[in-house]
Amino acid sequence: MSETRLALAPGLIHAPGFLDRAAQERLRDALREVVRAAPLFTPRMPRTGKAFSVRMTNCGPLGWVSDVDGYRYQPTHPDTGAPWPAMPEIVRDAWESLAGYPHPPEACLVNWYEATAKMGLHQDRDETDLGAPVVSLSLGDTAVFRFGGTERKAPTRSIRLASGDAVVIGGLSRLVFHGVDRILPGTSTLLDQPGRINLTLRRVTQPG
Ligand code: SIN
Ligand code: MN
Repeated sequence: MSETRLALAPGLIHAPGFLDRAAQERLRDALREVVRAAPLFTPRMPRTGKAFSVRMTNCGPLGWVSDVDGYRYQPTHPDTGAPWPAMPEIVRDAWESLAGYPHPPEACLVNWYEATAKMGLHQDRDETDLGAPVVSLSLGDTAVFRFGGTERKAPTRSIRLASGDAVVIGGLSRLVFHGVDRILPGTSTLLDQPGRINLTLRRVTQPG
């Protein structure tokens, strides 16, 4: 595990190599169990119903879903109706060491990017508690991660996120636009197929 923390902007922190290889393997294996209990589903754009190129699942008390009715958090899987499985311990530990926030995360969104998948620039703003950061963990092939400012028209730049890297999107950067331009297949040996897993840990509600 590396202690390196790079400030990309105020509140936007890149922690390269946050998870060492052994931790990445443990997390990969824990996610296999998550996906067994909560199979990947294909999210769709609100209104148009156009499919995202990533597939998703969640763990924790709440999960983020998107379909023709809109974006939202809900306590159950959209296809199976079952509660989301528990967050693996390593995920909760990552939040504790990176979030700087005194309450646990409520949602862990798991995005599966196959080699050709990408994600357009967007803000994460479906959470009521914007005082908590979003913490991202990457596994598998490197991604070209793009980020800008809190307005869509602000200039953007990109960095590469490798397997084991973490990003904290918080503070003055909590509402920055961000997305994934592309995946660089063959850059990691962690997974048994080309692609990338990204986890985003989120606090959704205001602590009572
Ligand atoms: C996201 O914004 O939900 C995912 C970001 C990433 O895949 O790095
Ligand atoms: Mn996001």
